Amino acid sequence: MSTAHALLEATMTAPAPRLTVIGTGYLGATHAICMAVLGFDVLGVDVDPAKIERLSSGEVPFFEPGLPELLAKALDSGRLRFTTSFEEAGEFGDVHFICVGTPQRKGSNAADLTYVDSAVEELATHLRRRALVVGKSTVPVGTAARLTELVQRVAPAGTEVELAWNPEFLREGYAVDDTLRPDRLVFGTDSAWAEEQLRAAFEPIITQGTPVVVTDLATAELVKVAANSFLATKISYINAMAEVCEVAGADVTGLAEALAYDDRIGGRFLKPGLGFGGGCLPKDIRAFAHRAEELGVGQAVAFLREVDGINLRRRARTVDLVRELAGGELAGARVTALGAAFKPNSDDIRDAPALDVAMTLHRLGAHVTVTDPAATENAQRAFPELTYDTDAISAAGGADVVVLLTEWSQFREIDPEAMGAVVAQRRIVDGRHALEPAEWRAAGWEYRALGRP
Ligand code: UDX
Repeated sequence: MSTAHALLEATMTAPAPRLTVIGTGYLGATHAICMAVLGFDVLGVDVDPAKIERLSSGEVPFFEPGLPELLAKALDSGRLRFTTSFEEAGEFGDVHFICVGTPQRKGSNAADLTYVDSAVEELATHLRRRALVVGKSTVPVGTAARLTELVQRVAPAGTEVELAWNPEFLREGYAVDDTLRPDRLVFGTDSAWAEEQLRAAFEPIITQGTPVVVTDLATAELVKVAANSFLATKISYINAMAEVCEVAGADVTGLAEALAYDDRIGGRFLKPGLGFGGGCLPKDIRAFAHRAEELGVGQAVAFLREVDGINLRRRARTVDLVRELAGGELAGARVTALGAAFKPNSDDIRDAPALDVAMTLHRLGAHVTVTDPAATENAQRAFPELTYDTDAISAAGGADVVVLLTEWSQFREIDPEAMGAVVAQRRIVDGRHALEPAEWRAAGWEYRALGRP
């Protein structure tokens, strides 16, 4: 028996529940691996056999710092296995975590619940004894109540199976730390038994002193979209200020710095620039607004449309700045795009502002070469019409304009002289306020950034 498991057994008052994790994407794979490292017996489940094979052989199918090492450790301990069989999951688990995606529905702002519904239904058909199904996916409020009915109707064990909601707040790039040391745990439950199961499943994390908020299903569902809406609003707020700065001749970076010293405001998520993207914030605020309209309270979150609009305008403004630096005409201009991922330390290109800008420049006739330390392969698959390079300096060869779109540390550290030696024109748009303007200007670069004179 390994130390983690022995420790867990020693601290638990009841036997540790056996866990399954349905869906092994960014959220599910991280959750499964971390829970096994904490000492639980975990079975990861996915409908994609290729993903299951890669995880079983010790390979994390996406970029996430620290996770490959923990996967190796978890597999070595013998406490983590992966399968495509829901039947096996039903037999094995006491607590089943649903971690499948809820992307934006095609042609609508609503969340697409196909994966959640089918995962829950498929699992339920194999639940023959008392068990807890725990939703972690981000869903429209009211989903958990609907799924409770579904589970209890379909499961052979009927009302012996209960449902709870446990929203997940992990950030890509910090997923391991956010999972092992979360700010808080939120348990949406219908019964004392469900709460007990959740407390048992998170015992090692609760023991660290992590605050637990126990609430009802609807509140737990709302916590997640409310949190993401707040974060998106904060980013768009400072980006709205950047728009004002641009016409007033003011500097949004100084403005943001001054605001951040006010504890009530704080500096986190107050970084102006190209704005937010990724697999969560954009689709979550849209789905929330959509759901609120369905519930007849659309006006309460109507501001989220504005938050979305401000965010998208930053992308358009970045394209404008590149055009200005290119002399007013993008057709034929050679542009080097530094960054493809939606943020640094990630290979995720879902709704990536960087690629949105790169594709718009391409459509307007520019020759765009993209480089990114981790996301090039994903970007190439999604946008084969763009040109790619593995290295920033070589990507910049012959460029008329360089545009920084994702603030990787590799790009922050670029030597303006070294890059200046290979470009056709020393002109740069800093879409993320990642560079030191004085340094670049001293090296003869024309430097432009959003919200700065
Ligand atoms: C987000 C939430 O932070 C997390 O709690 C939730 O579970 C999932 O959604 P993530 O999508 O990984 O996490 O990215 P995050 O670090 O929040 O960044 C989101 C986007 O906002 C990125 O595109 C980032 O570049 C942008 N951003 C962030 C800004 O433009 N300015 C900021 O100040 C902060």
